[in-house]
Amino acid sequence: MIVQVCVGSSCHLKGSPEVVDLLRKHLAADKLEDDVILMGAFCIGKCNREGVTVQLDDEIVCGVNRENFLDFYRQHIREPLLNGGASNG
Ligand code: FES
Repeated sequence: MIVQVCVGSSCHLKGSPEVVDLLRKHLAADKLEDDVILMGAFCIGKCNREGVTVQLDDEIVCGVNRENFLDFYRQHIREPLLNGGASNG
């Protein structure tokens, strides 16, 4: 899975460095680092949302922040990876 965290100026201000830190930490804790290519992306074009924009393969999730990070991570990254890549959104 390719995970691209938007590091455009708007998302940067809304906390993308923190989201990247959290991603690294949780991927390491779950030993999923080898299953994910973590990248930065320039503006994905969804800046008018609250929180940070993250693209997972071809799925775009807006509004990621410190508070909802765990839900986001479990639903969009950990479960699809543990279930062999099948994602139901
Ligand atoms: S800066 Fe992140 S979507 Fe535009």
